[in-house]
Amino acid sequence: MYLIAPSILSANFTKLGEEVVDVLAAGADWIHFDVMDNHYVPNLTVGPLVCAALRPLTEATIDVHLMVKPVDRLIPDFAKAGANLISFHPEASEHVDRSLSLIREHGCQSGLVFNPATSLDYLDYVMDKVDLVLLMGVNPGFGGQAFIPSTLPKLKAARARIDDYQRRSGRTIRLEIDGGVKVDNIGEIARAGADTFVAGSAIYGAGKDSDAQRYNSIIAALRAELAKV
Ligand code: DX5
Ligand code: ZN
Repeated sequence: MYLIAPSILSANFTKLGEEVVDVLAAGADWIHFDVMDNHYVPNLTVGPLVCAALRPLTEATIDVHLMVKPVDRLIPDFAKAGANLISFHPEASEHVDRSLSLIREHGCQSGLVFNPATSLDYLDYVMDKVDLVLLMGVNPGFGGQAFIPSTLPKLKAARARIDDYQRRSGRTIRLEIDGGVKVDNIGEIARAGADTFVAGSAIYGAGKDSDAQRYNSIIAALRAELAKV
């Protein structure tokens, strides 16, 4: 099943709660929550306080994408703030296996995030501890960047790894794509193997006022492309 996860990075922060409720009412599945620290990535966004503030508004999955270094310190805080899923970049953790375990120990699902130039080999020994593989379609740090084409063959490689693992283990791992996802490329991204789609600027529209009706039509347009796959 395909899931759509709007990134609140491009939402109107003066009315963030409304923006979250509106995209979910328009048919979104998850809320993608981008955490940037001005250290691992050159931008600064929101932390556990904001996650906790949004939590009572919905039972939908809050998909926390940590772009922070170090990683471990924030895991208990986000678990307490109501995150369902916490993902991090392997380069940002001194001990990837430990960080993955820590996420699960705090009752959340765990994800590993791969930058465009990061090798999937990080998965070799930790597949059992991963619930989600997230491939970046852009370099992390900002919304509204163009999708990097080399992500397509990489998605295929990640799909093959996941399919092989799922056959052997009987356990499901989602394959998420984040960055540069638009109506005109979501079809080929799905054909390459992604099943979960983050979209920030495509859904919220950078700098424009939100419009609940517009969310309905953009999410419907994304789903229409997925239906053709
Ligand atoms: C980028 C973030 C993304 C971002 C995607 O570092 O992780 O989640 O919001 O934005 P778009 O969809 O505009 O590329
Ligand atoms: Zn993200």
